[in-house]
Amino acid sequence: MKRLTIPLCAVAAIGLSFACRHITPEKSAPRNPAVKKIPGRPDIEENADRLIDEGRQVFRHDTFGSQDYWGGKLRLHEAISGAKRHGVGPGLTPHQALALGLKVDSDAVPKVLMQVIRGGSVSLDEEKTTLELLKADSVVGVKGFFDDPKDRLHLTSIGITCAICHSTVDDSFMKGIGQRLDGWPNRDLDIGAIVALAPELTPMAAPLGIDVETLKKVLKSWGPGKYDAEVNQDGKGFRPDGRSAATVLPAAFGLAGVNLHTYSGWGSVTHWNAYVANTQMHGKGTFFDPRLNDPAQFPAAVKQGHHNIRNNPDLVTSKLAALHFYQLAIPAPKPKAGTFDAPAAERGRLLFEGKAQCARCHVPPLFTEPGWPMHTADEMGIDDFHASRSPDKKFYRTTPLRGLFVREKGGFYHDGRFADLGAVIAHYERLLRLQLTPQEKADLVQYLKSL
Ligand code: HEC
Ligand code: HEC
Repeated sequence: MKRLTIPLCAVAAIGLSFACRHITPEKSAPRNPAVKKIPGRPDIEENADRLIDEGRQVFRHDTFGSQDYWGGKLRLHEAISGAKRHGVGPGLTPHQALALGLKVDSDAVPKVLMQVIRGGSVSLDEEKTTLELLKADSVVGVKGFFDDPKDRLHLTSIGITCAICHSTVDDSFMKGIGQRLDGWPNRDLDIGAIVALAPELTPMAAPLGIDVETLKKVLKSWGPGKYDAEVNQDGKGFRPDGRSAATVLPAAFGLAGVNLHTYSGWGSVTHWNAYVANTQMHGKGTFFDPRLNDPAQFPAAVKQGHHNIRNNPDLVTSKLAALHFYQLAIPAPKPKAGTFDAPAAERGRLLFEGKAQCARCHVPPLFTEPGWPMHTADEMGIDDFHASRSPDKKFYRTTPLRGLFVREKGGFYHDGRFADLGAVIAHYERLLRLQLTPQEKADLVQYLKSL
């Protein structure tokens, strides 16, 4: 610490924009050395720093009291522990957890444990190791509660955080174990299969008016990288054509400057954060959205009173400002040089902004429309199933395109219907009657990969 603070404070003294007392090893670099400190208003920078630090903590670690649902009601932790350790069934080994797409934050795993895992003397095929990893608070987005002093690996409940769906790791230790990447959608995560492990699913099935077997069919239809954030409001588990109603997990980065959020534009980031924390994660807060009080469109929401949730104490509302600020601060990642062909991407940029008409909606540098970035299903040349599930009932939002390269897995568009960028461009060719040569299409793909 000392070694770090001395030179940094010296830099601060010559007028840069951070305060010495904010420096800890985790955030040792000045946030923006190019920005001169504005005389008289250090409170703004301090507020920004505080909101980012608090928001990161909430995004990564806050369960909002959701353990009362996932542990308390569904008893999901018992399926993880296994019958040998106060739970039910065989338990979940780390290999099984990783195969379900759960990720491990290598920075949180105690060094000794990492060493023994590497050496092979602690097995990733034993449920006990999963409990060790949970105890170290290293399973991304999953928080284990162990408040039994007599038995250190007695998991008594489990809660979830935003990071379970909206973070992944860089695989630097091994596949599934590495450093956190906040905001990257976890397209490996089979959240439906994980929830389906819970020994008690009636509290989830009953409000939908379905039995547990039907609920399991819905959960298992999602598959990796997908989740349905609306099924517990409208009860639509499947599309009319029988396919899953789930959407691919979106990026939670590169969202600053974007007016409306979710694929169908439910509201702002903070609207959606409150929505998810209360109605999806089953945290305990306050949520008000009278649009959900519509028995025709949202029968399950009406049954559960989701349009007007009030908990005392409220474990969500005080965290929304910092969470919002942090969300907006997460930049979209930049693709590494060499992952795309730079001269082709430059030619693609000219097409994107010209002949191919993309920039009409994906306006650079936001890559969505400043203003009200919404388009009807007809305009987009696709069905309106998912659009019709939002309160506005008919729009898709122009997806901001930066960091596209991290969401190739699982496909593009809200439900991943286009397997790759070539398929997206082929769709626009038909829709916009574009006359693109094979070379031009290839150049556009390179440009999209460069964003
Ligand atoms: C179980 C998985 C899951 C969890 C947990 C979750 N989300 Fe999401 N999130 C989704 C899905 C799926 C969507 C897309 C919903 C849609 O468009 O219908 C989404 C959408 C979003 C969006 C909109 C992105 C955009 O492009 O506009 C933001 C922002 C977001 N989530 C942030 C959060 C935050 C913050 C939390 C924690 C409070 C959270 N999410 C918890 C799955 C999840
Ligand atoms: C009329 C407005 C409009 C035009 C023109 C347009 N887009 Fe889009 N774009 C959208 C909307 C709306 C979505 C979201 C569709 C969905 O999720 O179902 C989208 C989604 C995408 C996606 C998927 C992003 C993701 O993460 O799923 C890509 C890639 C894309 N557009 C590229 C392009 C390219 C390339 C062009 C030009 C050939 C183009 N768009 C032209 C509105 C437009």
